[in-house]
Amino acid sequence: MTSTFKFPEGFLWGGATAANQLEGASNEGGKGLNTPDVLPGGKVRLKVLSDPGFDFELDTEKYTYPNHEAIDFYHRYKEDIALFAEMGFKTFRMSIAWSRIFPNGNELTPNEEGLAFYDRVFDELLKYNIEPVVTISHYELPIHLVKEYGGWRSRELVTFFERYVTVLFNRYKDKVKYWMTFNEINSSLHMPILGLGFAIQNEEDRYQPTFQAYHHQFVASARAVQLCHEIIPGAQIGCMLVYLPTYSVDSNPENVLFALQEEQIFNYFCGDVQVRGHYPAFIKRYFKEHNIELDIQDGDLELIKENTVDYVALSYYMSRTEKKDKKPEEVGKGNILGGIKNSFLKASDWGWEIDPTGLRISLNQLYDRYEKPLFVVENGLGAYDKVEEDGAINDDYRIDYLREHIKAMGEAVQDGVELMGYTPWGCIDLVSASTGEMSKRYGFIYVDKHDDGSGTLERSKKKSFDWFKNVIATNGEEL
Ligand code: BG6
Repeated sequence: MTSTFKFPEGFLWGGATAANQLEGASNEGGKGLNTPDVLPGGKVRLKVLSDPGFDFELDTEKYTYPNHEAIDFYHRYKEDIALFAEMGFKTFRMSIAWSRIFPNGNELTPNEEGLAFYDRVFDELLKYNIEPVVTISHYELPIHLVKEYGGWRSRELVTFFERYVTVLFNRYKDKVKYWMTFNEINSSLHMPILGLGFAIQNEEDRYQPTFQAYHHQFVASARAVQLCHEIIPGAQIGCMLVYLPTYSVDSNPENVLFALQEEQIFNYFCGDVQVRGHYPAFIKRYFKEHNIELDIQDGDLELIKENTVDYVALSYYMSRTEKKDKKPEEVGKGNILGGIKNSFLKASDWGWEIDPTGLRISLNQLYDRYEKPLFVVENGLGAYDKVEEDGAINDDYRIDYLREHIKAMGEAVQDGVELMGYTPWGCIDLVSASTGEMSKRYGFIYVDKHDDGSGTLERSKKKSFDWFKNVIATNGEEL
């Protein structure tokens, strides 16, 4: 299909991943144990992430741990990057595992083997003119920082993070021009284990400790922006939000107000601090009503104000529909944020509602609010794939999903949105973050690895591989 719009010159087409979901080699190269290493595989993971009291201990008798081997990118990165290059990737989004660089998180000197691994990966990407886009912290924290410091509850993590990013910027200053600080920073409002490195123990934890931890991350992020600009002139560093445009179920003003308030706290709170450089007005009342009093040190607010991000990266998978007094049976089954089922939308096999127009709405809302370049660094369809007898994988459902979302981005560009690029999530099959499953596949490249841990790890191309290759080759004109 030929589209009617053009994406900007130099548009960054590519794919996105995260260290813990693809590298494997969890105890090689001097790496320390980290938070995803202790998360069990299978649907029990979602329960662990949502229920109070998780203790971050390994229990190999009871659970499997798919992130330990993942898809073994650590040893197979050359083969994988060659496939990305064949697809014509202009960019590759990946993350660095903090625990490879500082195994405990708080050492004074970094682990050379970890640094050298990422050197090899960046060199391989650059060999094919693929621009690395690096997430500094993607749902991963050395376990020592969790156990000894309580994760981001502790102000000391700001110092450790500063040490970590200083090492990264100095080491990779000639290789990496695009950075982002915390993956989906706003998601910790629902699942602090992944982003903040502590488990909710009781309802009170949702407020004071969570927002204090957020303040620490805002300070750390601002400091990273400052250091990035100092150490790598010309580099760009962004924030990264999971964005769900929030619709009211109807025009009842009570429901509209509720949807707005949910949107403010979830979609905008973090971005407002990182992009505008100050706490938004609406949060004052929220803090008061939830007895939150932040410990803000001298200089924090100035640092945040003076070191705002260069661009806004976002993941977009679904929209959210809200109603003030919803009944449990109205909640959509796959809605991680608890919105109600939207009768206008179909859902994925995991119940994630599919809404391409929601992406156009999101891009318009974010650009109106922040007037900063936007970068869609995650989007995609998690689906069960079937390997035919001849080895073919006909993932037309994935092509349909991506086509509609690319069309929505094209429309947003015509609406006036400044868009830097598009890196669909899990361009190669990898371990799901929320369920620890391999069978929830997003890739253009199939990996022979299964939920029970079996498989050869062999890579093969799905039908979407050639389709996306052509999308990139025509800069989005042929969809
Ligand atoms: C985003 C995360 O929330 O969504 C990724 O940044 C994650 O790490 C992706 O993998 C898809 O979610 P899931 O649970 O299907 O893997």
